[in-house]
Amino acid sequence: MPQSHIKLATRAKVPTRWRKEVASVLITDRMLARRITELGRQIERDFAGRDMVVVSLLNGTVMFIGDLIRQLSHPLRLDFIGVSSYGKGTESGELVFTKELRLDVRGRHVLLVDDILDTGRTLSRVTAKLRALKPRSLKICVLLDKPSRRVEKVKADYVGFTIPDQFVVGYGLDFAEKYRNLPFVGVLKPEIYSTPKPKAAAKSKRSK
Ligand code: IMP
Ligand code: MG
Repeated sequence: MPQSHIKLATRAKVPTRWRKEVASVLITDRMLARRITELGRQIERDFAGRDMVVVSLLNGTVMFIGDLIRQLSHPLRLDFIGVSSYGKGTESGELVFTKELRLDVRGRHVLLVDDILDTGRTLSRVTAKLRALKPRSLKICVLLDKPSRRVEKVKADYVGFTIPDQFVVGYGLDFAEKYRNLPFVGVLKPEIYSTPKPKAAAKSKRSK
C-alpha cells in the first residue's frame, strides 16, 4: 500500500474556534509534518545532483511549499505561478494565470508543486504550459489527491495523502479565500458551501 493511503480517520477534535464551519479534522498538523518529511526524503533522493527548479502554484501551496523545501538540503531554485479559477462554489471554472513564471526552466529538472489534485484541469493546463518551456524533466508533487474526481489524465509523482471526495480546507486550502490559516486539513461542513447566494454574488472568484 503506498504511503499516501494511510488511515485518515483522526480522533482529533475540531478546535472550538472552527467548530461551526469545519465538520472534522482529516489530517492533523503532526500527520502533515511526518508525511512531508517523508516526501522530502524521497524528493531529495530522486533529485540529488540535479539542477532543480521548484515551481509552486499560488495561493494554495502557501504552507506546504515552505514546509517541503525546508526538508530539501540540496541547492534549488524556487519560483511561483499564480492561477485562479473562476467557478461556482466548489467547482473549478475558467483558469486565469495571475502570475507568470520568472525563472528559466529550459534544460532544468522541474518539480511542480500544488495543494490538491482534483479534476486535474489545473495541472493539465499548467504542465502543458511548462512543457512548452522545454525543461529537462517535469515531476508533479501534490499534498492531496482526490483520484475519484479526475476528469483529465494527470498523475502526480509524489502524493502526500490520497483523500476521499470531500471538500477540504486548511493548511493553505481555501473556500472562497477563507480557511487557509487552519494548521490542519479539515472537512468543510456542506452547509457552508451550499448556502444559496444572492444572484449577483453567484459567480464567485475562487483563487487557488
Ligand atoms: P482541479 O483543477 O480540479 O484539479 O483543482 C485543483 C484546484 O482546485 C486546487 O489547486 C484547489 O485550489 C482547488 N480545490 C480542489 N479541491 C479542493 C478542496 O477540496 N478544497 C479546496 N480547494 C480545492
Ligand atoms: Mg483554492
